[in-house]
Amino acid sequence: MSFKFNFDIETDGVEEVDAGHVEDTPVEEEDEGTSFGSSRIPAQLHSLDELISKLPPHIAFSPLTIPLTSSKTITIPRRELFDVKMQLMAEDNNPSADTTTNFSAAFTDEDIRTNTYEGGLKSWECSSDLVKQLATDSDLWITSSNRILELGCGTALPSCYILQTLLSSGGSGVHLTLADYNIDVLRLVTLPNIILAYLHATNTLPSTSQPTEEVSEETPEIELTQSLLSSFLSTLQSHNITISFLSGSWSEDMISLIHGGITSSTPETMYPLILASETIYSPSSIPAFVEMLEHTLSHTGKAYIAAKDIYFGVGGSVKDFVDIIHAKGWKWDIAREEKRGVGVGRVVGVVSKS
Ligand SMILES: C[S@@+](CC[C@H](N)C(=O)[O-])C[C@H]1O[C@@H](n2cnc3c(N)ncnc32)[C@H](O)[C@@H]1O
Repeated sequence: MSFKFNFDIETDGVEEVDAGHVEDTPVEEEDEGTSFGSSRIPAQLHSLDELISKLPPHIAFSPLTIPLTSSKTITIPRRELFDVKMQLMAEDNNPSADTTTNFSAAFTDEDIRTNTYEGGLKSWECSSDLVKQLATDSDLWITSSNRILELGCGTALPSCYILQTLLSSGGSGVHLTLADYNIDVLRLVTLPNIILAYLHATNTLPSTSQPTEEVSEETPEIELTQSLLSSFLSTLQSHNITISFLSGSWSEDMISLIHGGITSSTPETMYPLILASETIYSPSSIPAFVEMLEHTLSHTGKAYIAAKDIYFGVGGSVKDFVDIIHAKGWKWDIAREEKRGVGVGRVVGVVSKS
């Protein structure tokens, strides 16, 4: 079943949910003894090289500006959705194109198509809140988080912000894992945005200043040349930053891939920092999401979870999530709240196991 949140308003270029008018979503049956239910898309690990080989020759982008204080903003360049749709149309018309699925949800105005497309092509509102909180707490993660996992990353604004910050502040020695339900989201928006973050941090993006009469009004584009991609890879290497990608459902297999193919975790393969924005909208997948935290968040780590208080129509809520967190004896600390003047309240909370 598909559904559309009431996504008509755009705030700072990030879609805003007026969480009403949502069709009911069927609750999936769960297998006994596991929170994962029957996994819909098998988990797969993808290397940076593999996803680089799936990139288009050009990407069009625009800068997203996130206000931090009255005098400070954060800029994160993002691939334009129209450009993604044009790429998909070209692939649709070209049977030899290296396309994994017919990603038809991208051509509709659906925000989510349950078990097929989980919303990763658009930047959801809470991802900006999470970026703001990471900026506020940068002292806490910038030197101490050598492994970072973003679950349900989609356009990956929080990870892009982290990469920008590390590259422009000389940060090094970090492994970043980006996980999304759809491989198509990873190749179409996640990796392009990561490359844009690198270009932004190294001041090598074409100018996006307001058009004047002499300057073309076209959306800026970058050509993903071999030389640009080699510089991207060598910059990561010089900062000792590695990036890997996971597609598919939250599942035991995904956990095993995260831990290098073994079923039991070791302290070295757990994550001191986990990020997730708008991943708890569906009551049927909250337990699987919590299970992912159980098996990937280190004992002393922190998971930053950004979410709306309630997802009307779909049924997920911060309360349901926090009840499970507390039942496990873990802590939930609210780091940021957006309540006044917003349709539905939003929160960034920090989960810790000790
Ligand atoms: C609403 S989108 C949010 C995307 C992004 N974090 C943002 O805030 O802009 C929800 C994301 O959660 C992930 N997701 C939802 N259900 C999932 C599941 N059962 N298994 C794996 N990923 C899932 C998808 O990858 C999807 O991109």
